[in-house]
Amino acid sequence: MIERVLHGKVAVVTGGASGIGRSTALRFGEAGASVVVADIDADGAEAVSKELTGRGAAAVAVRTDVTDQATVADAVAIAESEFGRLDIVSCNAGLAGFPTPALDADPDEFDRIFAVNVKGVWHCVRAAVPALRRAGGGAITIVGSVMGERARPGFGAYASSKAAVNHLARTLALELAGDAIRVNALAPVATDTAMLPQFLGPEDPERARAAFIAGIPLGRLAQPEDIADAAVFLSSPAARFITGVVLPVDGGRSV
Ligand SMILES: NC(=O)c1ccc[n+]([C@@H]2O[C@H](COP(=O)([O-])OP(=O)(O)OC[C@H]3O[C@@H](n4cnc5c(N)ncnc54)[C@H](O)[C@@H]3O)[C@@H](O)[C@H]2O)c1
Repeated sequence: MIERVLHGKVAVVTGGASGIGRSTALRFGEAGASVVVADIDADGAEAVSKELTGRGAAAVAVRTDVTDQATVADAVAIAESEFGRLDIVSCNAGLAGFPTPALDADPDEFDRIFAVNVKGVWHCVRAAVPALRRAGGGAITIVGSVMGERARPGFGAYASSKAAVNHLARTLALELAGDAIRVNALAPVATDTAMLPQFLGPEDPERARAAFIAGIPLGRLAQPEDIADAAVFLSSPAARFITGVVLPVDGGRSV
């Protein structure tokens, strides 16, 4: 049980239907926030919203495609119309792909990864900032990746998209500090979600999993809750003087 450090706050979580986003939405609710669960998977978002309300939190689901600025704007508008304000944004929606040498990447998949992982974050921040300003400030957390800081063969498109958003977080932190809007990124290591099989690759997933774990000093993969708890911290008053940070949540992988 975590403390209600987000009591009275209103949050939007993109990609909230699954994995890290789902866990973040649930932790935000547990910490006292009202949550807009925004995902391209409308049924999945609805299920997480129901989970939240079943646990006594205020929540609403909205179908949001982060590549479409208008639907992201809808998610923000719903936060204000349903809950009166917006304080917290988790830009979490993301796509990966099977390991491929960078020069062999499929051009359409390359564009799609950047459209969701990079421009989708930009859409999300652009839509949210006017509402955060109206609330007198806020906290944006972008889900980047440890792969955005440390290269690994086979993930040219994905890792460079994550390097882009890790750095976008730093840039936005400088540009939005005057509005009392903090912007940070999380850099998770391989996390046990629906996305994980793509990182492990189709050939020998058990061997790939063991190799990932061997590179993590704390000796296991991340669980979605590990990342969600860091998102709660960065969104809470306890992190009031932290902005522009790319926080590894990686069991020591990047040390
Ligand atoms: N799983 C990992 O190993 C890992 C490691 C580091 C970073 N990440 C990042 O964490 C974030 C969450 O990933 P996850 O592991 O929970 O994966 P996941 O596949 O379980 O969840 C991703 C969610 O994003 C949603 N989504 C995809 N495209 C979307 C779009 N255009 N608009 C709105 N929603 C969309 C999906 O429907 C899904 O609910 C991603 O940004 C991912 O890159 C994951």
